Amino acid sequence: MAVSPASDSIDIQSHRGPYRVVFEEGEPFASLRDEDLGRAVVVLDARVGGLYARELAPLDGAGVLRIEADEAAKSLDRFPEYVERLVAHRVRRGHVLLAIGGGVIQDIVCFLAAVLLRGLEWRFYPTTLLAQADSCIGSKSSINVGRIKNVLGTFTPPAAIRINTRVLATLDPVEIRSGIGEMLKVHAIDGSAAFDRIAADYGPLLTDRNVLERYIRASLLIKQRLIEADEFDVGARRVMNYGHSFGHAIESATDFSIPHGIAVTIGMDMANYVAARLGVAPAAHFERMHPALAANYAGFDRMDVPLDALLEALGKDKKNTDSSLTLILPDAQGTPAIGTYRHDAAFRAVCADYFASVRHA
Ligand SMILES: NC(=O)c1ccc[n+]([C@@H]2O[C@H](COP(=O)([O-])OP(=O)(O)OC[C@H]3O[C@@H](n4cnc5c(N)ncnc54)[C@H](O)[C@@H]3O)[C@@H](O)[C@H]2O)c1
Ligand SMILES: [Zn+2]
Repeated sequence: MAVSPASDSIDIQSHRGPYRVVFEEGEPFASLRDEDLGRAVVVLDARVGGLYARELAPLDGAGVLRIEADEAAKSLDRFPEYVERLVAHRVRRGHVLLAIGGGVIQDIVCFLAAVLLRGLEWRFYPTTLLAQADSCIGSKSSINVGRIKNVLGTFTPPAAIRINTRVLATLDPVEIRSGIGEMLKVHAIDGSAAFDRIAADYGPLLTDRNVLERYIRASLLIKQRLIEADEFDVGARRVMNYGHSFGHAIESATDFSIPHGIAVTIGMDMANYVAARLGVAPAAHFERMHPALAANYAGFDRMDVPLDALLEALGKDKKNTDSSLTLILPDAQGTPAIGTYRHDAAFRAVCADYFASVRHA
């Protein structure tokens, strides 16, 4: 899909009606002044709260729940504390939850919005690239229970999303690459021409905010097409899990020490490699995508990913049984497609070869 001309909003259709993604210029969080803070409770990434204390001054006097955004923060056992603190901030039916942060804050607020007081409206100010370019649309909340990642969830779209790419300036560079991982993914799903285009712009993506913003819009437009066709993830949308079966297994096998979008980047590379070895996609497809993917996971290629833990995690993936694996692998044309594969010794050997080959590249 061609990159759309600059427009300042995208309207997304959902089962709850349309919601608008607005691209904002100027001072970050300026539009908080337009929110009805008298009937809102804010859930704020604590780090963002510290970095943008001045810009977030409109929140003075509002109820604010600050959360340190790590993977443990979206664990079910933390929710009693969140609920108690929101109730202490006098959350009421008819109130709005304002989420300010990345994917972790999003998952927490989206989940709470589905169940707190039988449902509240929520609005989102995404502050990470991953959240701006990918997770902010699509309605999903995903909560961890113990070590089981994303096992609880709902489809609860926000009422509105406000994106200001200026806040990305304070993001750790590795978190930028994590977001780029998801952007590479949707472009790969859109087709080889789209992937080649974003891959060719990989350098400017890291250094030029205008180029980055152009690809954020393009990524959201590609995702929009898939989620509007299949909001509840039973058909066309499932290809969005490209890179995610292996990616989640890598995250789990390394105790979540690899950012999500970096694990997804490795996951796509691994899916392409495995597909080539199993004969379902040409080796040329792996080789075509490999340079951009490898650039994006640079520094993580020497990480020790324990194979037993990885295969165990892969087997536990929601979609799988002990003997068969449902994976999104590229097909003969290089298009990500759903298939079922045998979880056997040969598969294990191919996975082992992947890590050996990347580490020695
Ligand atoms: N629900 C969905 O559709 C969906 C989709 C993809 C990912 N996710 C989930 O999102 C989570 C990852 O989210 P993420 O990658 O957005 O990161 P994150 O929310 O984990 O944030 C990463 C780090 O960046 C910090 N941070 C956030 N904004 C910042 C800013 N502007 N400046 C400086 N620091 C900032 C945070 O405090 C945190 O330390 C994972 O749990 C993943 O499972 C959910
Ligand atoms: Zn993802």
